[in-house]
Amino acid sequence: MARTSYDTWWKHAVFYQIYPLSFADSNGDSYGDLRGIISRLDYLSETLGIDAIWLSPFFKSPMRDWGYDITDHTDVDPILGDRDAARELIEEAHRREMRVVVDFVVNHTSDEHPWFVESRSSRDSSKRDWYVWRDGRDGEPPTNWVSVFSGPAWTLDETTGQWYRHTYLREQPDLNWRNPEVVEAMFDVARFWLDMGVDGFRVDAAHQMMKDPHERDNPPAPPDYPRAYKDMGEYDRFIHLYDFGHPDVHDIHRQLREVTDSYGQEVLTVGEIHIFDLPEWASYYGENFDQLNMPFNFHLMTAEWDVPSLRATIEAVLWNVPVGGWTNWTLGNHDEIRLSTRLPEGHGRLAALLLLTLRGTPFLYYGDEIGMSQVAVAPEEARDPWGHNVAWLSRDGARTPMQWTDGPNAGFGPVGSTPWLPVGPDHVTVNVEKQLSDPDSTLNLYRRLVALRKAHPSLQVGSFLSHPSSTEDVFAYRRESDSETMTIVLNFSDEERMIDVGRGELVFSTADPDRNGRCRGEVALASREGIVIDHA
Ligand code: GLC
Repeated sequence: MARTSYDTWWKHAVFYQIYPLSFADSNGDSYGDLRGIISRLDYLSETLGIDAIWLSPFFKSPMRDWGYDITDHTDVDPILGDRDAARELIEEAHRREMRVVVDFVVNHTSDEHPWFVESRSSRDSSKRDWYVWRDGRDGEPPTNWVSVFSGPAWTLDETTGQWYRHTYLREQPDLNWRNPEVVEAMFDVARFWLDMGVDGFRVDAAHQMMKDPHERDNPPAPPDYPRAYKDMGEYDRFIHLYDFGHPDVHDIHRQLREVTDSYGQEVLTVGEIHIFDLPEWASYYGENFDQLNMPFNFHLMTAEWDVPSLRATIEAVLWNVPVGGWTNWTLGNHDEIRLSTRLPEGHGRLAALLLLTLRGTPFLYYGDEIGMSQVAVAPEEARDPWGHNVAWLSRDGARTPMQWTDGPNAGFGPVGSTPWLPVGPDHVTVNVEKQLSDPDSTLNLYRRLVALRKAHPSLQVGSFLSHPSSTEDVFAYRRESDSETMTIVLNFSDEERMIDVGRGELVFSTADPDRNGRCRGEVALASREGIVIDHA
């Protein structure tokens, strides 16, 4: 049984997601790149204290979906660097004791990938069956499935008169994971990066690789059908019974796990599982912990931002993680509206404290540590294909350049260069340089929190228990390990609150870096203040 112990690095780690196109541009070509990331590794390791980075795709791509459409999984796109830069990035991160996890885009390739070019060339192509080709139904697509980005999930290819399936853009044809040659070719990709030294994979669209083999139509969703996630437009018109999550997908994850385990138990697979039914979501661990090490946990992003919803969500997630399994938490990524824009005014610090004191590995999204907000991107500057189809789903505003300084392009690239997406106008005040010199800044709050988590085993691996003193607007919980017990209290209300925390030492406050001292019984929390008590 592939069980993992508490010693596994990724249970102790704080992760940081980098969207490479937007982090740092070393050569002034408008796009962030791997050498830019290398130049900022000290920021991640020394300043922030991060243990691991997840890099969104940097592979060869025509950039229709900004790197999630790949033409060569084992090469680096020239705008991002080359293989040497990738190797150097991995080595430089390791030298600083940071792990590197890369995106593994499994469900589809680019339509310009040589495999697909070959596959579409004729019905007899040796790679025809590497993708999913079907005859239409009286000139209509083979099923009623719609793509995540809207429009039919099938495109008619004039060359051979058949339709190919694409869960996302028509430029992202679905690989046929029922073909063993595809499985082997993709596992070779995983081996390539493991050989280069990566520490694991974030598996993209990991629940979508296997669809109903009978390709049945999805039933239409009645108007009052509950929505588990955000408003997805046309995609929400159907109940998605047949176009993802066929049970055969678990077999693929078991096989992938064999590949990663063959490189040692330390290799991490964390899969993008957009499933909000908790038992089904948890099934991706595998009955014997032999599938993904962790399904990505997006549940904090779907919960209402109030104490009862957050508490219920956190307890439900932890209850559903199989005994012996381990979860993760995140409040932002390259697909969602920026955290600080989603939250009610003044709640950013509470969010940081919550994320970094829960039981489960925290994943931070670049820029959230300085409180970057969603940037309004004008139509003529828009880049995201999803936004072209459905305006409110554009992800551009959460992918704007990292704000390093108050300079012209926020220090993202050399002076005089123009970043590929507009720089947030608030970079004049919201930037790394400025926040470093302000002890009370969001950045310094995150730094202190990362350090606090690292200093306390209870915060890393301790148990989680909601505290009975919790109320409608105060959330209190306890983290307990063999050696220590800590209580975290978050006041969500706009007023001061008194709460009984018992005896202990107040070691952290979101409101005042200097607040500390013994407490006995009731303590006062300022409006939207969060505190941590060490009971030793
Ligand atoms: C995942 C990625 C998203 C991408 C899509 C298609 O959902 O997170 O950014 O567009 O897969 O690869």
